[in-house]
Amino acid sequence: MEILIIGGTRFFGIPMTERLLQEGHSITIVTRGSRCNPFGDRVRHILCDKTDGESVRQKLGAVHYDLVIDKVAYASNDVRSLLGNIRCDRYMQMSSCAVYKESGLQIPEQAFDPAAHPLIWMDRPADYAEGKRQAERAALEFMPADACTFVRYPVVLGPHDYTGRLRFYAEHVAAKMPMRVQNPDAEASYIHEKEAGEFLAYLAEHPCAGAVNGCASGTVSQRKILWYMEQVTGHSAILSEAGDPAPYDGSAGDCSYDTAKAAALGCRFSDLHTWLPALAELEISQTRGTL
Ligand SMILES: NC(=O)c1ccc[n+]([C@@H]2O[C@H](COP(=O)([O-])OP(=O)(O)OC[C@H]3O[C@@H](n4cnc5c(N)ncnc54)[C@H](OP(=O)(O)O)[C@@H]3O)[C@@H](O)[C@H]2O)c1
Repeated sequence: MEILIIGGTRFFGIPMTERLLQEGHSITIVTRGSRCNPFGDRVRHILCDKTDGESVRQKLGAVHYDLVIDKVAYASNDVRSLLGNIRCDRYMQMSSCAVYKESGLQIPEQAFDPAAHPLIWMDRPADYAEGKRQAERAALEFMPADACTFVRYPVVLGPHDYTGRLRFYAEHVAAKMPMRVQNPDAEASYIHEKEAGEFLAYLAEHPCAGAVNGCASGTVSQRKILWYMEQVTGHSAILSEAGDPAPYDGSAGDCSYDTAKAAALGCRFSDLHTWLPALAELEISQTRGTL
């Protein structure tokens, strides 16, 4: 397939693009060029800001793509500048489980229907979740609904996570610093970066209409994550209202996602407890190097 990827050069974009290359697809990646292209001459690399519609039209408008994978969709205007200026058969957007307004266990895709969400043309709002809802909704202005896939992940974890969120817990445990953890016993879903990338690549070859959840099986609380780190360091995490605010937000209570639709497509995810302890240990060891 002729595949256009917006992004793909960072975090779980890398295992996604690697897998698509292994499968023999012709790949064009688009970035603004602020980081290197890790795939060398195995991909075409076009420098373009996808939020600049005129630049998108000039640099990408001449080619018809079988599939566009958009990893940089944070608002309706992000989608308009892209889809208003290119031609493609299918569009896959990296969305997020943040689109769901209610928490709960085993949340199904139908809990958020982008077609029923009021469209507001907007640049990226401070409210990440609403920006992601608007990005899904905007795609339906340009593509038939059955040609769109919205891939929804919870927090992605892995050794290449640049967000530093898991590292926050490791640093605070290792340095015995107090942290304020909202609802430490709330259970939450996560997904490993490798599976996050590979599921996107799998969906390229197994078309899926509409939204699809992806996450590891099992849930974990922040208290359990801290426990994994306590086992490595040998001392206890300090939870205090006066501490630094922890990044994973347990305030809404338990939250997990139904992956039956992904399973019906033939995709199953690992149990997060098979890899989270090793990741917690890695974060602690890397933290020790910086303390
Ligand atoms: N991290 C999580 O826990 C999580 C969870 C759920 C969903 N998501 C979603 O995952 C996506 C990010 O995926 P990823 O971290 O794996 O990144 P990625 O696919 O590698 O995409 C990031 C790359 O996109 C390029 N880029 C950024 N803005 C651009 C623009 N305006 N025009 C062209 N290129 C641009 C950047 O390169 P340049 O700087 O060189 O342009 C960057 O390297 C987001 O949509 C996010 O909402 C993340």
